[in-house]
Amino acid sequence: MIGISDLSLATGHHVLDLAQLAQANGTDPAKYRVGLGQDEMSVLAPDEDVVTLAASAALPLVQRHGTDRIRTLLVATESGVDQSKSVGVWVHRLLGLPSSVRTVELKQACYAGTAGLQAALGIVARDPRQQVLVVAADVARYDVDTAAEPTQGAGAVAMLVEADPALLAIDPVSGVHTADVDDFWRPNDHASAVVDGRLSVSAYLDALTGAWDDYRAQGGHGIEEFARFCYHQPFTRMATKAHRKLAQHTGAALDEALLEPTTRYNRRLGNSYTASLWAALASLLDDPTDLTGERIGLFSYGSGAVGELVTGVVRDGYRDHLRAEDNLRVLDERKPVDLATYRALHAAAGARGSEDHDVPVATSAPFRFAGVRNLARRYEGVAGA
Ligand code: HMG
Repeated sequence: MIGISDLSLATGHHVLDLAQLAQANGTDPAKYRVGLGQDEMSVLAPDEDVVTLAASAALPLVQRHGTDRIRTLLVATESGVDQSKSVGVWVHRLLGLPSSVRTVELKQACYAGTAGLQAALGIVARDPRQQVLVVAADVARYDVDTAAEPTQGAGAVAMLVEADPALLAIDPVSGVHTADVDDFWRPNDHASAVVDGRLSVSAYLDALTGAWDDYRAQGGHGIEEFARFCYHQPFTRMATKAHRKLAQHTGAALDEALLEPTTRYNRRLGNSYTASLWAALASLLDDPTDLTGERIGLFSYGSGAVGELVTGVVRDGYRDHLRAEDNLRVLDERKPVDLATYRALHAAAGARGSEDHDVPVATSAPFRFAGVRNLARRYEGVAGA
């Protein structure tokens, strides 16, 4: 039995209340709160990026479990900061991991965290003494004054994968669906994603039904054997659309009210791309309802497009291993910004490119981006964080 033993959340230093964005756009705030299911979005300080997010999420895991059994670090992201060097190699140094840890970055839009989990399961199956550290981390960025602007956000979730897992045992069967779709992508010379919003929603739902059909064809469990579903949440209302689609596709009566505990963190993070599904899982497990022994379906979708339905069973005693207070604190301690400050941060993000520059201290996260020297990015620990 192999699966997830620990889950830890990190996000940006700042938060924007979406009511401010609605007011500036002349939009009814209920459109964001109810129509999209989003209340806030995380905004990065100038000295934060996907490396600092990933390292901040993983640090509590390393502090709790040590590094002796970790031989692989997989960082999944579509917000990479270099075309060659893996985000994971900086994370590896910031965490003080041993040199005997293989490190790589994985990419397929919001799906890559799930690919990381699958790779980790395979590694542990070959050698059950090993643990794999999987970090899903992203910064969701669209152009301002677009329909997608309120669905930005940022976040990272670190997971420890091992044999005899403390939280969730992942079932051997999963369902997969890949199709070449131009619904969302980010060309190498673009700082923001390009998106066809309507197509992206229908491509997501097609991937869900395709993954479900494949899951069943592979011998997966019947719909009645699932207690809960977590979905990738580009905006939390998407989980409701997905649940309705699955109900229609399978003919089952699925209770939409059971989705709410999966949406609490993502309503406040915004889209965290590849971290989003795992933030939904953390949110569900952190809810006081006891899910011991229950089977959970996890639907991962990454535009472009790859979907996968992964399933797992919640372990006895899982509540002793949760980080509910820490995860909530990460959200509560963000510093609010007004619309003008958010827009200035959005415009400035990455504007200096790879020219030499220093970035002043702003974040209170454990790690920070310090600037660029000789075309190389520099990261450091934050004193007292
Ligand atoms: P939009 O223009 O805001 O859409 O764009 P809308 O006008 O249809 O409104 C959205 C909903 O708000 C509708 O509800 C309205 O009825 C409702 P629905 O019909 O969908 O149930 N509404 C209101 N509700 C209450 N009070 C009101 C009110 N007014 C309207 N007053 C869109 C929405 C998602 C297209 C846009 O935000 C977008 O382009 N977002 C980015 C793309 C995206 O998130 N796609 C999701 C699927 S693709 C995916 O998940 C992958 C991704 O994460 C990337 C990756 O894989 O890396 C994006």
